[in-house]
Amino acid sequence: MNAAPDGPPRPQRGDELELSIDSLAFGGEGIARLGDGGYVVFVAGAIPGDRVRAVVHKRKRSYAHARTLEVLEPSPERIAPTADHPGVAWQVMPYERQLEVKAAQVEEALRRIGKLDGFVMEPIVPALEEWRYRNKLEYSFGGGENGEELVCGFHAPAGGNRVTAMEDCLLASERGNLARRVALEWARGEGLVAWERGGRGERGRRERDERTGPAADGRARLRNLVVREGRSAGKLQVRIVTTDGELEAGALAQALSKALGDELSGVLWTRSRSLAETTQGGQTELVWGDGELPERLGELDLRISAEAFFQTNTEMAELLYGIVVEYAALEGWERVYDLYSGIGTIALTLAPRAGELWGIELIEPAVADAIAAAQRNEITNVHFFAGDTRLALPELLERAGRPDLLVVDPPRAGLSKKVVRRIIEASPKRIVYVSCNPTTLAPNAAELVEGGWVLRKVRPVDMFPQTHHIECVALFERV
Ligand SMILES: C[S@@+](CC[C@H](N)C(=O)[O-])C[C@H]1O[C@@H](n2cnc3c(N)ncnc32)[C@H](O)[C@@H]1O
Repeated sequence: MNAAPDGPPRPQRGDELELSIDSLAFGGEGIARLGDGGYVVFVAGAIPGDRVRAVVHKRKRSYAHARTLEVLEPSPERIAPTADHPGVAWQVMPYERQLEVKAAQVEEALRRIGKLDGFVMEPIVPALEEWRYRNKLEYSFGGGENGEELVCGFHAPAGGNRVTAMEDCLLASERGNLARRVALEWARGEGLVAWERGGRGERGRRERDERTGPAADGRARLRNLVVREGRSAGKLQVRIVTTDGELEAGALAQALSKALGDELSGVLWTRSRSLAETTQGGQTELVWGDGELPERLGELDLRISAEAFFQTNTEMAELLYGIVVEYAALEGWERVYDLYSGIGTIALTLAPRAGELWGIELIEPAVADAIAAAQRNEITNVHFFAGDTRLALPELLERAGRPDLLVVDPPRAGLSKKVVRRIIEASPKRIVYVSCNPTTLAPNAAELVEGGWVLRKVRPVDMFPQTHHIECVALFERV
């Protein structure tokens, strides 16, 4: 550890520190302060009240990130973990406490980052299921502890590309776990190897080709396994993501079909040349069965394409949309815009209560799913378009006219300043903002308030128990 001449002590990468955790940061890490409190260390695997030994893995001028090696004195709140795998860092806090922290973080983001006041903070909606609630799991293939045996699980927390083996993923259903185990056994039996992540990054085309290309024997190297579940019918869609190369994907489908029977809906294979750890993009082909996963959401009969976004907690999505319906307070004649509409579920849910609805979504297969869902469910007052909201919104305004209600449900990065400006130009009476990240909702909320809207109320919804992820719905009205 060294100290800046006029500042607090600053740890080095690799330093081991003993730290007392005083609160939780947005993003879920514990917060510890060094010296007189100026230098902050974000500590993965620690909760308020813990005293831990942690190793620094990233260091910046005014803060560092560390990973817990040992809990020296546990917080009085700490409870025994239920799951033995990563991805559920908050499982050591009682569920009631998780809810309190999430609600407080939404309020804090709006007050402190957004500098907003005067809104009603409605109570957080707890999850219906605290475990096995996810309808989509993205697992990674890796070389395991010793780099020899193929594993399929989650990345080890805080740094490194190591993938840890898992037997029972407690975020997934039992049938989802079975699909993962069958795929892994099949891959081990075939002698397939995992893609090597990390390295020095892209230096040139040759290095990229080597890193994303097949193994020496010409066979594809395994990157990810995406297991998606239509919860209403209990159907599974399994997608294997690999590098370029050969793969007996039909044999994988046979092994899955034998184990899962009618519960298997489809098997897909994506070849990706991305250096990033992503399951999006690449070239996807249908190997077996149906390319679209059947699901029900409330009254809606849906079919979801592999590339399309769908809320990852189906049961809680129904409650989330219930709040959207309530905040929308539609009378039946209104023109509604649904921006970032995915497979159209918000517009389709609001459709019986509105005059006309217009959705914009970037991913074309999702738009096709939305249009098909409107037809299947005999909903005739909705229109969906593929496009980037920033460019498509002004076009929509010209074509459809000003919206009475505008619903936005952007990705974690929130709305760019340009999109906020376009929304302000569209001048809807009400805006319902569905957010999966209060730290980007807050600046957007401040911009909308500056633009002439009032933040009336906010309601967090816990879609992701045992994790730090927070969803919430906010209502803005034009003054
Ligand atoms: C959080 S999801 C919400 C989807 C949908 N509202 C729902 O509840 O299922 C965000 C969606 O925004 C889409 N998206 C991302 N960037 C976009 C952009 N620039 N313009 C339009 N849609 C975009 C994503 O493909 C994704 O479907």
